[in-house]
Amino acid sequence: MDLKIVLLGPPGSGKGTQTERLVAEFGFTKISTGDLLREAVRNGTELGKQAKGFMDAGKLVPDDLVIGLIKEKLAGLKGGFLLDGFPRNLEQAEMLDAIADINLAVNLDVDEQAIVDRIAKRRSCKQCNEVYHLATKPSKKGGVCDKCGGELYQRTDDTEAVVRERLRVYKERTLPLTDFYKKRGILVNVDGQGEIDDVFDRTLKAIKKSRS
Ligand code: AP5
Repeated sequence: MDLKIVLLGPPGSGKGTQTERLVAEFGFTKISTGDLLREAVRNGTELGKQAKGFMDAGKLVPDDLVIGLIKEKLAGLKGGFLLDGFPRNLEQAEMLDAIADINLAVNLDVDEQAIVDRIAKRRSCKQCNEVYHLATKPSKKGGVCDKCGGELYQRTDDTEAVVRERLRVYKERTLPLTDFYKKRGILVNVDGQGEIDDVFDRTLKAIKKSRS
């Protein structure tokens, strides 16, 4: 059976970081709504213009815009996939149910102090979205991406005030999804604290156990 995973967790919990590792391990398709939206903003598309204000304020982008994006990406997709950053609320989860058979929800559990530290020191590649951290995952070439040579930058929604709002929105809108998937018997909680490699090992074990 193909793995069809949703990856849940608060902002800065390491979803993007673990997604890259999981894609390398399993070879499934990654769909990250945050990356897709940031790309749309960078390219100045109609979607990007509509999404930017919400993202800069730490709010969720309206469902109709994001759901349209997901439908487009899932249409005709063969094999397994991992959704990073989608669904973000119950409406999105119910819509997803109507178009895909999700068989696992992985929830990364990280405390708020670690989140603030991770986000404050995060740097991202403007070109390929690779994620770095000034202390725990620095780029070898300073302000340049090791993978593609793109410029590294600090996301506009990574300021303290916006991070606080993103956390508030997460608790109010996204956290209830853990109950939603628990009731279906497909939720696994993974301790997201500690070294990136250790979190990856725990995630991998949890995924393999869920399949056995
Ligand atoms: P999105 O991009 O999805 O942001 P997020 O969920 O807030 O998550 P982040 O990208 O901030 O963090 P992450 O969990 O991926 O952590 P990362 O691996 O980078 O969404 C952004 C915005 O887009 C939203 O606010 C909203 O406006 C909009 N949006 C997106 N999807 C939407 C949807 N479905 N509906 C509506 N709106 C939507 O790690 C963070 C840092 O920590 C990095 O520096 C990393 O190197 C470091 N790190 C990772 N793991 C560890 C570790 N174990 N130890 C130490 N450091 C670590």
